[in-house]
Amino acid sequence: MARLLVTGGAGFIGSNFVHYVVNRTSHDVTVLDKLTYAGNRASLDGLAKHRVSFIQGDVADPALVDDVVSSTDAVVHYAAESHNDNSLADSHPFLHTNLIGTYTLLEAVRRHGTRFHHISTDEVYGDLELDDHQRFTEETPYNPSSPYSSTKAGSDLLVRAWVRSFGVAATISNCSNNYGPYQHVEKFIPRQITNILRGIRPKLYGEGRNVRDWIHADDHSSAVMSILEKGRIGETYLIGADGEKDNKAVVELVLTLMGRPADAYDHVKDRAGHDLRYAIDSTKLRDELGWHPQYRNFEQGLSATIEWYRDHEEWWSPSKELTEAFYARLGQ
Ligand code: NAD
Ligand code: DAU
Repeated sequence: MARLLVTGGAGFIGSNFVHYVVNRTSHDVTVLDKLTYAGNRASLDGLAKHRVSFIQGDVADPALVDDVVSSTDAVVHYAAESHNDNSLADSHPFLHTNLIGTYTLLEAVRRHGTRFHHISTDEVYGDLELDDHQRFTEETPYNPSSPYSSTKAGSDLLVRAWVRSFGVAATISNCSNNYGPYQHVEKFIPRQITNILRGIRPKLYGEGRNVRDWIHADDHSSAVMSILEKGRIGETYLIGADGEKDNKAVVELVLTLMGRPADAYDHVKDRAGHDLRYAIDSTKLRDELGWHPQYRNFEQGLSATIEWYRDHEEWWSPSKELTEAFYARLGQ
């Protein structure tokens, strides 16, 4: 049994990981989270208090980070500014948290000799053509497009440098688009579900031909646990569940599952620099660590996610108006 420090544990994927660890392992968890607009303490409700302790703070605060890292056995670093549209509007918090925050944690784990796992994204590889059969692998060159993905790429490179230069015991994973409970309503799937619940028409950027490779957040969590337990130090593992879908197909499926006509959505202004297609080849993770996704049916996982948002309006409702006001200013 160990104590894991989970940064960003009040966010979407971090909170799903904390639930996963508490429910399926004997590890205890310390969450370090700044509670930005994207963090929500209620995402950790219902977890045994003696298993999870919560610290509100910034991963770029060296004294706090040193103190917290000194009393944990391993760090799983989810904290980030995570939304591309926000990074186009104001990049500064992305440089602070994604770069300085990661650097601050690396210096602390270096001092204390603590195992470190860095959570990253497939967006560091840029995008693929729509009519291409290629997928990203661990060998694909970095080519990020947005302020968000370039800061994530920079954070990955910092981790690699701290492994090589200082012998930090770190691994990295780059995952594709997650869906599931506790995702902020700014993101594509929860935005459309909560729009429909509010009587607002879903909004599709541009033509909606862009492809994302969807994975359930629980499958991301199980992959991260496999890497923590069995991954080779210094290695990168890509995480994906063969879930490629174009945005138009996803919005039509959400509408159909919610009993609305499949074409009851609006096309809105496209995202600047909008990546066309992401697709993950997770052969290394599967062959080397024996990992497999449990959610193989996207429609079933999406139905369960829709039910979760229907049942948890008190969780998402406080963020909805502000989020839609932001998009209205962008014409999206
Ligand atoms: P999120 O925006 O839902 O949550 C981010 C969390 O980090 C929030 O709780 C926020 O309060 C916290 N945070 C932000 N700045 C902080 C700081 N300076 N100090 C401490 N805490 C801070 O993000 P998410 O979608 O859950 O993404 C989590 C991680 O997974 C990110 O590193 C992201 O790059 C990566 N990722 C996300 C996806 C996806 O589909 N969402 C896919 C692959 C990788
Ligand atoms: O690939 C992993 C990445 O997935 C993570 O690194 C990011 O943190 C995460 O936010 C996600 O990035 P995307 O930009 O792909 O996710 P988003 O939910 O913002 O958008 C998904 C797709 O849907 C994208 O092509 C843009 C489109 N979209 C989005 C919104 C919010 C719409 O068409 N309409 C919308 O209203």
